[in-house]
Amino acid sequence: MKKRIANVLAAPQIGEQLQVAGWVRTRRDASGFSFIEVGDGSSLANIQVIADQTLANYGDEVKKLSVGCSVLVTGILQESPAKGQAVELRATEVQVLGWADPESYPLQKKQHSFEFLRNITHLRPRTNALGAVARVRSRLSYGVHTFFQDRGFIQVHTPIITTSDCEGAGEMFQVTTPSHASEVKVGEESGGEFFGRPAGLTVSGQLQAEVYAQALGNVYTFGPTFRAENSNTSRHLAEFWMVEPEMAFCDLEGNRHVAEEMLKYLVRLVLAECAEDLALFDRFIAKGLLARLQQVVDQEFAHITYTQAVEELLQSKQSFTYPVQWGIDLQSEHERYLTETIYQRPLIVTDYPAAIKPFYMRVSEDGRTVAAMDILVPGIGEIIGGSQREERYDVLLARMQQAGIEPSGYEWYLDLRRYGTVPHSGFGLGFERLVQFVTGMANIREVIPFPRTPGFAPC
Ligand code: 4AD
Ligand code: MG
Repeated sequence: MKKRIANVLAAPQIGEQLQVAGWVRTRRDASGFSFIEVGDGSSLANIQVIADQTLANYGDEVKKLSVGCSVLVTGILQESPAKGQAVELRATEVQVLGWADPESYPLQKKQHSFEFLRNITHLRPRTNALGAVARVRSRLSYGVHTFFQDRGFIQVHTPIITTSDCEGAGEMFQVTTPSHASEVKVGEESGGEFFGRPAGLTVSGQLQAEVYAQALGNVYTFGPTFRAENSNTSRHLAEFWMVEPEMAFCDLEGNRHVAEEMLKYLVRLVLAECAEDLALFDRFIAKGLLARLQQVVDQEFAHITYTQAVEELLQSKQSFTYPVQWGIDLQSEHERYLTETIYQRPLIVTDYPAAIKPFYMRVSEDGRTVAAMDILVPGIGEIIGGSQREERYDVLLARMQQAGIEPSGYEWYLDLRRYGTVPHSGFGLGFERLVQFVTGMANIREVIPFPRTPGFAPC
């Protein structure tokens, strides 16, 4: 008899006796009765409860209910005579489960800023916007699994604690015990550590996903990743989730197509299944969001090389904070100008200079670029980074040495090229950037339940 509000509203049965449990969003009194909006998080919509003075606790309790109190309501579903809702629940009993002192409860009916809500991460999922983000995020996560599972990809749980620095950028959090702590970086040799060598939190599951791709073909990993970069931007977190497929017998072109298909699949999924929540974002957070998402599904992504991107930026005569020339790492301002102003749609950029990319990317015939790809989307910039991997033992070894990476820590990775090496490719989708993209939320701190950034990790 106890039902989730989403289910009651989706298929209302007039005359049914039922129970709902949730939190009071508002209470309004009329003569002889009160309207109470109750929400339980199952949907954006609340149910309207009609509680009248015949209830035994009407005067003592019902009329004292305020925002945030938790209640268990038993009643009969009836058609609502008023505008705004099709049905309402006429209460036969309102049981107060927990009070929320209106003097101190931080969430009041008015709109709160997202900055304010960040300081109450334990209460903010009770707001409309953050509740909607949580539901969309959950659906996207489910969609990641159905997309890959339906196509025969095998999920691999790659480690969170690792002794290899995938991106080689030295942004790892070290993992050690107080008595073992040392100054030695991950990837370097040292004794006396808990794991016998320096270890850290993974920055990417890619290298281990490659191991399984070279045994099982098509695999993916989807888990938390960690980066100790000191960047306080609206698109960076110290802990974020990444979706990383890895495909054997697949080149950069195949990789690009899987990435485009996946992004379209995920956007289509939320357009179909999270319509109510997306309508909220379209109305209050990012006007025009629904139309933009529909375009993503309908249009083919644009594709240019890094060299072309540099030419287009130079021709644009736009003045950037970071000057453009061949060889630079594209900055967020460049990426966004390309995807938002020039192409006005998702843009795939491939074939970056070898010098600015990690050791594992496959060196192209020209000797100066690698088979890398980034996917840039309006409003965000880079959402996906990927590449074809270097499968030639000698070339990989030379790249490691150039990058100053000690090969002895990566013998296992080199072994994959020694024994039955195959062309293979993969990419990493920043899951929070995807949630930002489909919800239109301006700051990445709003799309993960408990954001971690430099100086910030409250619970
Ligand atoms: O481009 P990145 O660094 O690529 C890799 O880690 C590869 N090993 C992935 C692979 O080929 N399997 O990161 C991938 C994506 C970025 O495009 C971005 O969306 C996201 O991860 N990302 C972050 N998201 C939030 N906070 C950060 N600090 C992020 N750093 C990267
Ligand atoms: Mg990248």
